[in-house]
Parts: sequence; structure tokens; C-alpha cells
Amino acid sequence: MKMIPLGRTGLDISQIGLGTWAIGGGPAWNGDLDLQVCIDTIIEANRCGINLIDTAPGYNFGNSETIVGKALGYLKRDQVIVETKCGIVWEREGSLFNKVGDRQLYKNLSPESIREEIEASLRRLNIEAVDIYMTHWQSVPPYFTPIAETMDALNALKKEGKIKAIGAANVDASHIESYLKYGDLDIVQAKYSLLDRAVEQDLLPLCRHHGIVLQVYSPLEQGLLTGTIARDYVPTGARANKLWFQPGNMTRVIAMLEQWQPLCQKYQCSVPTLALAWILAQSNLISILSGATSPQQVRENVEAANIHLEEGDVALMREMAEALDKSH
Ligand SMILES: NC(=O)c1ccc[n+]([C@@H]2O[C@H](COP(=O)([O-])OP(=O)(O)OC[C@H]3O[C@@H](n4cnc5c(N)ncnc54)[C@H](OP(=O)(O)O)[C@@H]3O)[C@@H](O)[C@H]2O)c1
Repeated sequence: MKMIPLGRTGLDISQIGLGTWAIGGGPAWNGDLDLQVCIDTIIEANRCGINLIDTAPGYNFGNSETIVGKALGYLKRDQVIVETKCGIVWEREGSLFNKVGDRQLYKNLSPESIREEIEASLRRLNIEAVDIYMTHWQSVPPYFTPIAETMDALNALKKEGKIKAIGAANVDASHIESYLKYGDLDIVQAKYSLLDRAVEQDLLPLCRHHGIVLQVYSPLEQGLLTGTIARDYVPTGARANKLWFQPGNMTRVIAMLEQWQPLCQKYQCSVPTLALAWILAQSNLISILSGATSPQQVRENVEAANIHLEEGDVALMREMAEALDKSH
């Protein structure tokens, strides 16, 4: 597995990381998964050369962090980069965010809230320090906290040794510039898949310019770019309201994946592996967060790191996706 230097931290992260939103279960994703399979998935990821595990308190009200904490018990702590987040809360006030089941989530990046969040995360993860601490969603009115104040809190946690690196998710270019004014920002997390290439406009060039790792989520468009979803599939949970899971769009994507068969044969790989390899071909500062939910999916997805797509094939896959854009 290729490793990527994490900004100026001296840490290296694997080009492919494991995301544990789905592993956290609950109504926001598609229900609870088997706990042992979740733990085995995390262990298998580590065995396959993945050192980065991403989680968040917001993934089913702490459950994802708790499961990651259990899996860490089977791994060597110094061989895992644990990444978790702050800024989405449910036990205190903030600006309205999603409602999950009957529980309201809020955005809150105030220093007081971050202080409470880090302690709760360390307890659930059962570790002394978080390797990468990331703001999950950015602050908005009416409960607005300027980035300067959030960074004061994060820089203080770094000095105390409770976190080693600072990241930010779901940002725009102006957020990144603000973070950089107040300290080191080593990693940015944003959505990127062959079907959603918005980061190519501003974020990817800006991250390249500043030497910030761009860590991308939903690289398989929540499982749609895998060839395992049938035309009559009815999306539920987190997939239900997503653009590409709407009936007409979904069938057009499935038809595109069927056209990938010659490429899968050429590279001797599966559809999800090809979709992930396409992302890795875009920049050597991109790290993928794979949302695999079984050891088998982990093994399949890490193969992407071993595939080097020819430029013409990368362009061809882009053209196919662009053709879909015109029809949705
Ligand atoms: N910062 C944010 O706001 C944010 C937002 C979204 C995600 N994230 C992070 O990014 C991670 C990845 O995002 P994601 O979960 O949306 O990623 P994804 O990899 O696009 O989708 C994950 C889903 O794809 C399916 N899948 C994965 N590998 C497969 C394979 N080889 N074959 C068949 N199906 C496969 C699984 O579906 P089944 O379980 O149905 O098999 C899995 O639940 C999350 O876990 C989370 O850590 C962050």
C-alpha cells in the first residue's frame, strides 16, 4: 500500500483508508450491522495495509467510535491512524443539522463544545490521543463560531497531546484559507466520486497548492459504483434522497458500469476496484475513504492501489460519466 505524508506532521497515511459510517449502523445509514463482522472488517483493513480508520461521534450517536474502539483492542495502537471529528452534537445546543430517527443533530464548533467532545471521543475509542481531529461540518448562524476560535481550541488540544493533526471536512476554499491563517491544516475531507467531481474545481487545486491531503468520501457513491445494485433496487436510509439513486439516474449508471466490462477484463479487476483506481489516478495527494462493510469488500477495494490505469482509460471513464451528467 502506498503511503502519503500527512502535511507537516511526520505521520504517513495509507492511500486508502477505511470509513466507518455504515459500520456505525443506525437509521442514518441502513440499520445496524453484525458487530463481529464490523470488527473483522476493521482488523482486515489493517492486515491489508490500511492504517487510517475514520469515524465520528455523529455516526450513529457515538456507536461507530465505540465499535472502532473495540476493534483497536485487537490492533497495535502505533500501527493505526485514528481519525475522528467534532462539530456535530446532539446533547447540547447549536445550529440545526439533520434529524436522525427522532433525534435532532446540531452544528456546534465552539471551544467549550469541542472540549467536551474530545473527552467523550477518547472515552468511546478507549485511547489516549486522536491522531487526526477534524471539524465535521462547518459552523453556520445562528450558533456561529469563527474559525479563529475553533482553531484556538484545536491548537490547544494539540499542545496538550490530545490530538496530533487538524483536519476539516465539508469546506469551501475560503474555509481552507481561514484555517491556514490560524495554524496547520493537514487534511481536508470532501466528497468525490466519478459521478460527483465538484472538488476538481477549487478544492483539489487548492489542496495541491498548500500540500494538504485531500481525503475523499463516498468514492463508490455509497455503493452504487460497485455493479452489485440491481435495476429494481429501492434505495433506503442514507441512499434514499441521493441524486444518483433516483430511479432513472440509477439505471443509467448501471448501464455505464456494464460498459466497463472490457476495462475490468483488461485490468483483471472488479467494478468497485476500477472506480477507486480512477480516483487514485487523479492526484498523488488524494487519499480514499472506502466505506467497506465486510472483510471481502476491504480485500476487493484495496486492490485499487495496485492498478495503474492508462491515461486513455482514465479519460474514457470520465467521458462516460460526463455523458451521464447531461441526462440527469
Ligand atoms: N465528512 C463527511 O461528511 C462524510 C460523509 C460521508 C462519508 N464520510 C466518511 O467516508 C466514508 C466512506 O463513505 P461511504 O461509506 O459513503 O463510501 P462508499 O465506499 O462510497 O460506500 C460505502 C458502501 O458501498 C458498498 N461497498 C463498498 N465496497 C464494496 C464492494 N467492494 N462491493 C460491493 N459494495 C461495496 C457498501 O454497501 P453495503 O454495506 O450495502 O454492502 C458500503 O456500505 C464513510 O464511512 C465515512 O467514514 C464522511
